[in-house]
Amino acid sequence: MAVRPIAKLGEPVLRQVAAKVEERSFGSGELGSLVTDLIDTMRAATGAGLAAPQIGVPLAVCVMEVKANSRYPSFPELPLTVLVNPVVTALSSDALQGSRIAIYEGCLSVPGLRGRVIRPARVQLSARSPEGEPIERTVEGVEAAILQHEVDHLFATVFVDRAEPKTLTFMDEYARYVPERERVVWLD
Ligand code: NI
Repeated sequence: MAVRPIAKLGEPVLRQVAAKVEERSFGSGELGSLVTDLIDTMRAATGAGLAAPQIGVPLAVCVMEVKANSRYPSFPELPLTVLVNPVVTALSSDALQGSRIAIYEGCLSVPGLRGRVIRPARVQLSARSPEGEPIERTVEGVEAAILQHEVDHLFATVFVDRAEPKTLTFMDEYARYVPERERVVWLD
């Protein structure tokens, strides 16, 4: 296990599309070590999620977990989730009805900044476990937003690319000026 340094915005690895994990790597010690490092680093930094490019590894692997998170007190608890080669699809019926969620997101690669991002509130997730078992499920709400944020990292996208520019705020100002009720909002 190891807590690894986190790549900050400007590091080229964050702007590189992550490669898919190859079939022969499932169940391998190498993939297992990467997952352990991601979990250790996420927990040490109090992240709600972390993607492999953020620790300098351009592979399609990410982890998520929320347990009374001090960086995101408005978030519901979310069990530890490990995803390899995840693909997320917005559920089209919801997209048509405009069911979206707006969250002031932050990112360990963009320390100190928050900004409001609007995302589909319900998505279909297809992924594999590190052992190669298929994962297929519908994900909703805050979990769907965290999932999309992490999967974005695998496609060279950071939340500031999607945030409404005029909502960008530093942490102290966020704490002062963004009321609790505006931090996580369901739209429509
Ligand atoms: Ni992030």
